[in-house]
Amino acid sequence: MDTSINSVPKVLVFDSGVGGLSVYQQIEQRYPYFDYVYLFDNEAYPYGELAEAILIERVVSLVTNIVAQQQVDMVVIACNTASTIVLPYLRQQLSIPVVGVVPAIKPAAQLSKQAIGLIATPATIQRPYTHQLIDQFSPDTEVKLLGSTRLVTIAEEKLRGQSADLNELQVILQPLLGSIDVAVLGCTHFPLLKQEIQQVFGDGVRLVDSGEAIAKRVGGLLKAKVQHESATKRHAIYSSATPWEGMALDKGVANFGFSPVQPLHFQGV
Ligand code: DGL
Repeated sequence: MDTSINSVPKVLVFDSGVGGLSVYQQIEQRYPYFDYVYLFDNEAYPYGELAEAILIERVVSLVTNIVAQQQVDMVVIACNTASTIVLPYLRQQLSIPVVGVVPAIKPAAQLSKQAIGLIATPATIQRPYTHQLIDQFSPDTEVKLLGSTRLVTIAEEKLRGQSADLNELQVILQPLLGSIDVAVLGCTHFPLLKQEIQQVFGDGVRLVDSGEAIAKRVGGLLKAKVQHESATKRHAIYSSATPWEGMALDKGVANFGFSPVQPLHFQGV
């Protein structure tokens, strides 16, 4: 799909929590002149433990509503757990481009000489879509699966100013230690813990994620014509419920260029 836009394109970045900020960061680095709206569905967090039918219903309803309300030009589902199941339903409802993020198995398989670790949510490691990716792109290299919701929450805590406990990370990542040379960060929360995860694995393990590939895809699809500086602009961020430690979270999102988190209101919803 080719969407040529004369004014500044508005991009919606969506996740269950703050993980999508890692994807937003990659997009914004390349395209600082776009307009961004970030929405997180903390009411239903963690997505990695949500029933599929509920996940599909929530994402389709929230995203289609905010797209209509905010006149969004493109949707980025910055969540592997949602993207591996929801994209076809969402695309059926929307006429604008919808970009998703799925685990970076393909680049990992190109790098690995030993075995790959896929670190994701409990739902993502079970999805048929994920297993199709593995069969298609890593038929000869073993992919070891590790699902963890606690790791997602540690990233949420870090964004609120709490430092991650390396001993706890070591316990969570233990099943992969010493047996892989590439780790796929298959949940968008995990790049927020990249330094800490790298410290636990050591230099012998390459970490890969999908952020940069998504950013390239977004730019390629939008083909924006207008490029002007908006370095001082504060982007809008919305949540589906009152966030925990809201003040600490506001400080965290300010580092990414967002105004304080606002509750989401839809007319008639
Ligand atoms: N950040 C999300 C992902 O990429 C989901 C985290 C969650 O809510 O479980 O999968």
